Amino acid sequence: SPGTLVDKYGRHVTYVRLSITDRCDFRCTYCMAEEMTFLPRSEVMSLEESLRVARAFVSLGVSKLRLTGGEPLVRKNVMWLIERLGALPGLDNLVLTTNGSQLDRFAAPLKAAGVRRLNISLDTLDRERFRRITRIGDLDKVLRGIDAASAAGFTRTKLNTVMMRGTNDDEFLALTRFAVERQLDISFIEEMPLGDIHDRSRTYISSEETREMLGRHFELIPSTENSGGPARYWRIPGSESRIGFISPHSHNFCDSCNRVRVTAKGELYPCLGQNDALNLLPILRDGGNDDALRQAITDSMGIKPFGHDFTQQMDAPQVVRFMSMTGG
Ligand code: GTP
Ligand code: 5AD
Ligand code: SF4
Repeated sequence: SPGTLVDKYGRHVTYVRLSITDRCDFRCTYCMAEEMTFLPRSEVMSLEESLRVARAFVSLGVSKLRLTGGEPLVRKNVMWLIERLGALPGLDNLVLTTNGSQLDRFAAPLKAAGVRRLNISLDTLDRERFRRITRIGDLDKVLRGIDAASAAGFTRTKLNTVMMRGTNDDEFLALTRFAVERQLDISFIEEMPLGDIHDRSRTYISSEETREMLGRHFELIPSTENSGGPARYWRIPGSESRIGFISPHSHNFCDSCNRVRVTAKGELYPCLGQNDALNLLPILRDGGNDDALRQAITDSMGIKPFGHDFTQQMDAPQVVRFMSMTGG
């Protein structure tokens, strides 16, 4: 029956973030280490297995599903899965987080398949800088992807900007203007210590600081809107764009958490900022039926911790998973 996933703190889980690949066509410095090996194909859920997991969650009352990666759109035959998810009764809100590199090709088919909204990463509008941050990415391709999303009829597309001191902290204004001109939303994200990559404490910028800088140029009106997610939103008078701040460090949002995530390997992580997980793959592969799958998902509510513990971990993360593994 709907709405049956409730954790021991009384939080209802109605939102799943499903990673369908750990691979990516970028190597963002805050997300991946320079030398990164990807999972062998046999360890990654097949598209049929991902669909089965999605169906099990929906049968337990989950109504929102976000596809993540790595980069979800580099997964071979990804539209096979998305078309089926788009037609899944009970799944009201199918959304996707992407780096934008493949959107010039995929925007129209995604829209046609029933994807509701896109979140697109964009940390800079400067080509050289973009290359430095993503190591191998092409800014122009992403900008074409953003335009393709609008042309395909996507509205309320959200840009994600990870703020990094000394890298893109002089671009908050240009990025906000870019979003406002195109009627996009934008979220500024505090860097999180997932994966042992570099000492993040030197580049960390709090949302408060970003918001204060932005507030010198725009009147920011707090919005009461809450997606049940980590972002808190502001508006600029005369603009429909929402300016969000995702502040795992400076603002605790765990008490209203409504989500869990499943990695490309089929591990269910009840919390992004903790290491506890429940592996669904053995159930999928050793002949477990749908009841066994649903039971495992229900059981995972018992290990959902109250919250993350990112504080004080910026230079030596306790969470060793990389973001590309967890999908955020
Ligand atoms: P919605 O809430 O679905 O609108 O999207 P979102 O902004 O949460 O999703 P998106 O994939 O665009 O992620 C943006 C940032 O939020 C990424 O840095 C994610 O890692 C982060 N994020 C998403 N969910 C959580 C969460 O539960 N906890 C924490 N700490 N960060 C999260
Ligand atoms: N901290 C915060 N956000 C991150 N992302 C990737 N790695 C990190 C990190 N260490 C963001 C990407 C993408 C979203 C899914 O997660 O920029 O927009
Ligand atoms: Fe929920 Fe964990 Fe995210 Fe906090 S860090 S909002 S508890 S998933």
